[in-house]
Amino acid sequence: MSKKIFSGVQPTGNLHLGNYLGAIKNFVELQNDKANHCIFCVVDLHAITVKQDPKELKNNIRETAATFIASGINPDNNIIFNQSMVSAHSEAAWILSCVSRIGWLNRMTQFKEKAGKDKEKASIGLYSYPVLMAADILLYDATHVPVGDDQKQHLELCRDIAQKFNNDFNAPEFLKVPEPLIQKQFSRIMSLKDGLKKMSKSDPSDLSRINLTDSKDEIVNKIKKAKTDPLPLPNNIDELVERPEAENLLGIYSSLKNKSLQNSIDEFSGKNFSEFKIELSDVLVEKIEPISKKIKELLNDEKYLDTILLEGSKKADIFASKKIKEIKELVGF
Ligand code: AMP
Ligand code: TRP
Repeated sequence: MSKKIFSGVQPTGNLHLGNYLGAIKNFVELQNDKANHCIFCVVDLHAITVKQDPKELKNNIRETAATFIASGINPDNNIIFNQSMVSAHSEAAWILSCVSRIGWLNRMTQFKEKAGKDKEKASIGLYSYPVLMAADILLYDATHVPVGDDQKQHLELCRDIAQKFNNDFNAPEFLKVPEPLIQKQFSRIMSLKDGLKKMSKSDPSDLSRINLTDSKDEIVNKIKKAKTDPLPLPNNIDELVERPEAENLLGIYSSLKNKSLQNSIDEFSGKNFSEFKIELSDVLVEKIEPISKKIKELLNDEKYLDTILLEGSKKADIFASKKIKEIKELVGF
């Protein structure tokens, strides 16, 4: 069955292995099915929910587009664009924020994490961020949204917003209620320094993540320094209990190799981490180094990247402006 795919990635720099395995690798597999219609968005409006340097933001928008292309997304067959170029996203976010309930947003765990202790100082945008995300998805009648595990709650909210809008305006099925596409395994890649913490762009330690722009030497060095535990590799899945670093590294290996966790455990059972780390580095270098090289190459051609984003936003605007017109009509404008 043909799917309408929509997903977004924030242009906040340091795109990493978690973004790749949790989301972008999935985007590539979905676009390879020619029956699917895919839209991949550089969500720059989401990025400014926390302070950004304007010059860096501009670079990061191009770098995120370059990462999509370098990872294998074909801009000729799919839409790649940046959110701020299509004004319907901001308009729809406002209208949907009038449908969303404060109680719903108060439950969002990502806001609590990102805002930290001093919530009073967080931007209003950071708080209403998931409403903008719902607008992104609902403007395109997306049927499926591939994301990492951390976005699950935002997608549930998006479904609630769609249903409430349809109810409030007596327009059954008008906004399409999307399905999340979250991988069952390896949908949450953890820090290389702490198996209980998510791999993240904002971790102050660069050793905690493999960036998609890392060179071969950086990758090998980071894996060498990655935290492990004193035991040899496990003989079965049960032995991974309370060994988060071992589980994460084996998960990364399995995901890159498209193998089951069980298969990887069988391959390395009883071996030392030093032996396993060599194999893990090899597969990381094999998969990530070409992406890293391609990103750097693409970044030398800003004109090409800007054209992709401009052309993509023109195509996206055709869908989005039609939908926002219908939304306004229903609201009574
Ligand atoms: P962001 O960089 O926050 O815009 O995230 C872009 C995509 O990467 C989203 O689908 C996230 O769910 C996914 N993602 C981010 N960090 C991780 C991680 N550590 N493990 C798995 N997926 C992730
Ligand atoms: N909130 C998502 C993240 O941080 C990014 C995002 C914005 C998104 N709009 C979206 C993802 C729409 C999927 C669909 O990862």
